[in-house]
Amino acid sequence: MAERIYLYPIWLRIWHGINALLFLVLLATGLSMQYSNPDLPLIRFDLAVQFHNIAGLILSFNYLIFLAGNFSTKNGSFYQLKLSGLYKELILQMEYYLFGVFKKRPSPFPVTKSRKFNPLQKVTYLITMYGLIPVIIITGLALMFPEFIIEKVFQSSGIFLTAILHTIVGFMLSMFLVIHVYFSTMGSSPISNFKSMMNGYHEPH
Ligand code: HEM
Repeated sequence: MAERIYLYPIWLRIWHGINALLFLVLLATGLSMQYSNPDLPLIRFDLAVQFHNIAGLILSFNYLIFLAGNFSTKNGSFYQLKLSGLYKELILQMEYYLFGVFKKRPSPFPVTKSRKFNPLQKVTYLITMYGLIPVIIITGLALMFPEFIIEKVFQSSGIFLTAILHTIVGFMLSMFLVIHVYFSTMGSSPISNFKSMMNGYHEPH
């Protein structure tokens, strides 16, 4: 059996654990505020607002740990994308997820010391961590301090547009979470990737 590789340093696991927990709080309170029936809210409206604000602030500070870690350690190199040949690689990985996994074929991009993510993981993590998360943090902070938001953008209220953007990105991140957790079960066993996020070691196939 191949050797276990240490791929998830402690700072990354702490960031990820806090991030995942806060995300669930933000999702529950966000959904409750969005769809709440004032007579029967899932979470009392004023409490949902308070928890959402506090969790959002902590998540924003926690994101700085992710950025600092990725800029100052080797972990950042796993997020570097090479565009040449990417399309073909993405198709190969998609075929693997759709058919190969179920036929017990070997992964087209096995995990090594220098390749933690397959191309599909890399692209989704890049878009999520360097695109969607900054947008949700900036729009969230803007809604917390609305005096900084431009009043009118082409006749529409700036606050309204910021709120719409915040909600759309929140929805996209929720979709990411569902897909992320599902694909995380496709390791050497259904729980092996979850174990890696606890002990730091990737378990080879
Ligand atoms: C209940 C919630 C979550 C669970 C159970 C979970 C599970 C996992 C697992 C098992 C891994 C390791 C497999 C891999 O390397 O892909 C992982 C990595 C990762 N997760 Fe999550 N996750 C959760 C929430 C989130 C959220 C909310 C985000 C961001 C919005 C996120 C972003 C990431 C990233 C970026 C990695 C790769 C980190 C790195 O190695 O540099 N996760 N997650």
